[in-house]
Amino acid sequence: ENKMKLDKQEKDKRRKELDGYVGFANLPNQVYRKAVKKGFDFTLMVVGESGLGKSTMINSMFLADIYSSEYPGPSSRIKKTVQVETCKVLLKENGVNLTLTIVDTPGFGDSIDNSQCWQPVLDYIENRYEDYLNAESRVNRKAVLDGRVHSCLYFIAPSGHGMKALDIELMKKLHDKVNIIPVIAKADTLTPEECAHFKKQILNEIAQNKIKIYEFPDCDDEEENKVNKMMRERVPYAVVGSNTVVEVDGKKLRGRKYPWGTVIVENLEHCDFVALRNMVVRTHLQDLKDVTNNVHYENFRCRKLAGLGPDGKPVKGFDKNPLAQMEDEKKNHESKMKKMEVEMEQVFELKVKERTQRITDSEKDLKRREEQMRSTLEKLRMDIQDRKKQFDSEKMAWEQANGITFDELRRRNLEALSK
Ligand code: GTP
Repeated sequence: ENKMKLDKQEKDKRRKELDGYVGFANLPNQVYRKAVKKGFDFTLMVVGESGLGKSTMINSMFLADIYSSEYPGPSSRIKKTVQVETCKVLLKENGVNLTLTIVDTPGFGDSIDNSQCWQPVLDYIENRYEDYLNAESRVNRKAVLDGRVHSCLYFIAPSGHGMKALDIELMKKLHDKVNIIPVIAKADTLTPEECAHFKKQILNEIAQNKIKIYEFPDCDDEEENKVNKMMRERVPYAVVGSNTVVEVDGKKLRGRKYPWGTVIVENLEHCDFVALRNMVVRTHLQDLKDVTNNVHYENFRCRKLAGLGPDGKPVKGFDKNPLAQMEDEKKNHESKMKKMEVEMEQVFELKVKERTQRITDSEKDLKRREEQMRSTLEKLRMDIQDRKKQFDSEKMAWEQANGITFDELRRRNLEALSK
């Protein structure tokens, strides 16, 4: 009870009411001013089978110039997208700058072997993460440009029979790397009932295959939740794109004219185009960026640190995390040093052996020479001895022949000399 009382007192102390105006209520304005000054970057990617109207959709969504050279109208459009193409659009509204990067990817599904068709898409996403990671790791991190793909419009063919196996496979490859927003292409080919049924079917398949598409965030604001709910109900967005302008009631609008009627791209009763565009640029741009940064980029960083490739499998030659790799390098270094030590010891031993051999050799040589000298000396001694013997015998013969010894002769000579 005492503790509770103390806690309450502590809390009361901390939650002190201000007596006057301090001024930090101005904080949001500061944040706003800074953000507006800096401007916003956003990257949107379109992915899907060939000929589903991806380029047309991009043109309809952001490129005001309808017959721009980059996205010519259907009649003059002759080429299909064959490589990843990026296009920057600078949007300005009430003094707020938005630099929108649009990434148009080559449509797939045309070839017989489609097993690698998603590689350019995955490579583009991974490379942008890699660029960002490198920029973040640089010493000067002031101008880190965010080129990461913040959302990916995945185009599904309006077959009415659900998604193709290829779509499911690619979505599974993408869902932990980027915010997937599923889109039904060319929705003007479906009746409203067919469209509603198709949407349900797609959502079922997404759930069955445990594909994670972009989830609208829950928030405390009731009004915002209402908007989110309306947007959620429209997923997957059924869209119609057009590069041409039609005239309806004297107004020039983007649309498609058929013998039986006209589809207006920006009419919410005709398709979900406006809902999709609002969601991407008006209501959920920041959340898409946050999820990209907090979830997908983090996934990428974790994979990178764990030495895993985009498929979650260890990268060749980098199948360990950096710490384990450092440990390995240390071990490698140690074993290299040990090997060098052993080699040096071997060399040393060899040198010692050579020296000892040389010493024993010279010792032997010395001994041999000593022996030689000794034998020479011995010979000389014997020779002298022989000569001495010869002399003695010659001396004896002479004494006998002369009847006097040498000693006697020397004594007499000495006596004669003294007289
Ligand atoms: P790839 O470059 O091969 O990936 O094709 P894409 O998906 O970029 O398709 P693109 O925008 O080149 O459009 C292909 C054709 O579909 C063009 O003739 C467009 O006019 C047409 N088209 C585009 N959007 C729609 C649509 O909403 N409804 C219908 N009916 N046709 C569309």
